[in-house]
Amino acid sequence: MVELLRTISDLRARLSAIRRNGAAIGLVPTMGALHAGHGRLLEKAVTDGGFVVASIFVNPTQFHREDDFQSYPRDLATDLAFCERRNVDAAFVPDADEMYAGEPLTSVVVSGLTEHLCGPQRPGHFEGVATVVTKLLNIVQPDRAYFGEKDRQQLVVIRRVVKDLDIPVEIVGVPTVREPDGLALSSRNQLLSSEERQAATVLYRAIRKAEELVQAGETCPGEVMKQGLAVFESEPSARVEYFEVVDPEQLQPVDEIKAPVLIAGAAHLGATRLIDNILVEARE
Ligand code: PAJ
Repeated sequence: MVELLRTISDLRARLSAIRRNGAAIGLVPTMGALHAGHGRLLEKAVTDGGFVVASIFVNPTQFHREDDFQSYPRDLATDLAFCERRNVDAAFVPDADEMYAGEPLTSVVVSGLTEHLCGPQRPGHFEGVATVVTKLLNIVQPDRAYFGEKDRQQLVVIRRVVKDLDIPVEIVGVPTVREPDGLALSSRNQLLSSEERQAATVLYRAIRKAEELVQAGETCPGEVMKQGLAVFESEPSARVEYFEVVDPEQLQPVDEIKAPVLIAGAAHLGATRLIDNILVEARE
């Protein structure tokens, strides 16, 4: 049975007993509405061994818009069954009062890494993410914590927080899980109408087009972006928020493409915002 823990003190008491027995602790932070992408993180954590904690918390401070926070899918019973099937040991499911008791005055701000990609349109988002993840790492004190490459900017930001603040944890990045047609799995996909769901593959197609050009030796980022953006013309219902070619560590635009390079995009399908990226590690 997956153990359900709702308070920081209950979780800490449970984990100190685990630690006394010498077991390693793995943490998989999530906002619930679990799907096979989260499943891959949980499976990796379970395979790596030790006591695995999944946190399920729809973190209000990282949402830029109140309606996005309100409409975010929530289904705890299904999520707990999902964890159970994957042999997760415990689910930490705090409410907002538990996580943000006493109106905190402190937050974690990463002053770089957010001028591009998801940063400009979502002020405060990465501060919310960096702060809640730091809190979760302090609460659980895991040996390893797992994050998906689907949210590549988030992964880069978290690695930086851990390095800069000397948090003693290994951050494990996990490859993106996709639908057969390429769409990256996301809790938000269930908010798409059937027409929007069909149109949504345009984001992956555009990123793949850009990847092909880079693989074929194209070195001009402007050309790659132009041809990637042209793919969106086949799907006028999709509104592009950004489509960029950046350095995978600094997340800054490059003047000339040399692998490794990160191709990343965000698009709106109706009221739903989707993101995706591909890291081109080396030219074939
Ligand atoms: P959430 O969107 O629930 O995602 C939880 C974790 O699952 C993240 O590390 C994310 O990158 C990973 N993930 C989501 N879809 C994936 C996919 N298709 N393939 C592989 N991994 C995938 O990201 C968050 O929650 C929050 O920002 C959080 C880190 C929990 C802080 O609140």
